[in-house]
Amino acid sequence: MARYRVRGGRKLEGKIRVVGAKNAILPILAAVILTRKPVVLYDFPSLADVENMLLILQSIGCQVTRENSTLILDPSGINSGVIPDRYVKEIRSSIVVLGAVLARMKKARITYPGGCEIGQRPINLHLQGLRQLGVVIDESHGYLECEASNMIGTDIHLDYPSVGATENIMLAATQAKGRTKIRNAAKEPEITDLQNFINSMGGKVYGAGSNTIVIDGVEDFHETEYTVIPDRIIAGTYLIAAAVTGSDLVVDNVNLEHIQALVNKLRETGCVVRPLNGNHTGAVRVQAPQRLRAVENTKTYPHPGFPTDMQALFMSSLTVASGTSIITENIFENRFKHVPELIRMGARIRIEGRIAVIQGVPRLKGAEVSAGDLRGGAALVLAGLNAEGETLIDNIYHIGRGYDKLDEYLRSVGADIVRLED
Ligand code: UD1
Repeated sequence: MARYRVRGGRKLEGKIRVVGAKNAILPILAAVILTRKPVVLYDFPSLADVENMLLILQSIGCQVTRENSTLILDPSGINSGVIPDRYVKEIRSSIVVLGAVLARMKKARITYPGGCEIGQRPINLHLQGLRQLGVVIDESHGYLECEASNMIGTDIHLDYPSVGATENIMLAATQAKGRTKIRNAAKEPEITDLQNFINSMGGKVYGAGSNTIVIDGVEDFHETEYTVIPDRIIAGTYLIAAAVTGSDLVVDNVNLEHIQALVNKLRETGCVVRPLNGNHTGAVRVQAPQRLRAVENTKTYPHPGFPTDMQALFMSSLTVASGTSIITENIFENRFKHVPELIRMGARIRIEGRIAVIQGVPRLKGAEVSAGDLRGGAALVLAGLNAEGETLIDNIYHIGRGYDKLDEYLRSVGADIVRLED
């Protein structure tokens, strides 16, 4: 199995560009199922999770052609609502195809996705919303057998602003009769991107980014060309990479509004973060101090709060800040897997339930560590960039789910990181 070898201590310099967002492209690929006309997607990231989603589309009859980072999809031949188990087990978020398949095929069969590395990941809110639209769902032997011949728009109140449930309901509701309102909807930028994509094909979705999303059912969709938003978690990863190495780095293709919570926290550590051209989108320069300052309190919340996906990454920088920092993980119950690994690298962290208390040390030390999940794995890479000596990270397939060639990108700005194939 491949590993990363990182030799820490190098300053990063130059410019690094952020690619299209995984968490935006996944529901957008599901939305492709809604139309019978060709779709062209630009700035398409090549990632394990995304490849898996493409396999799902192909398995139900969609044709996929790729030209570098442009993806051409022909969904005219989609003729099945049966999603093969292996893909759903591989990537939990593939459950978001359910709403789209129901809209298109009026029936679907999909295995129950179950838990994963970061938590149980229930889908009760997805199913509750779909049932309210009139979908008949039979749960038996680990499968969901769904029938949606009579979906009617309605008011749906989510108990919690789940990203996946909001997306699934949005997708199904595009083909329901009349108007659907999702209250207490998720407000993540990826939801707005999904709305914009659906509307680019002739959908009628409004309000994404606010608490209430309104979806008017439409008869049909047309063709479209679309560029997905930049990946805010990758942008955050690079900003934190600069912070943890005391560097001065330019990160290009960033929407600052999408990462405001992180930027505020980086400023608390003493980093100067500013847009190069004065706009919210484009290149951002981060200048890190010699030594970061601790951050008293960081709590993960749904957007626009501090994202759970950046919790591990940000923690890696706080391990070397001066003073004591506290992080509370409110979203997923099993998202501290990186902590024992950071401790192997010399970090001083104590966990009490959902709270991590981090006492900064001057510098980490290289060690052999293991990626336990996607963002936790990337956090170990960032820790390795700081650490004295050599850090070897195994199980890096987790990292490949969300980062395309992370080593190459970091090397391009001066990091000493290589991928070792065993
Ligand atoms: C998405 C992101 C993931 C991110 C997460 C939170 C994608 C592909 N993944 O995941 O990277 O970490 O948002 O920002 O976009 N919940 C329920 N019942 C449900 C659904 C969710 O209880 O039916 C709970 C979950 O267990 C979790 C919380 O709600 O505790 C948030 O989950 P959700 O917002 O749905 O995250 P995902 O869409 O799975």
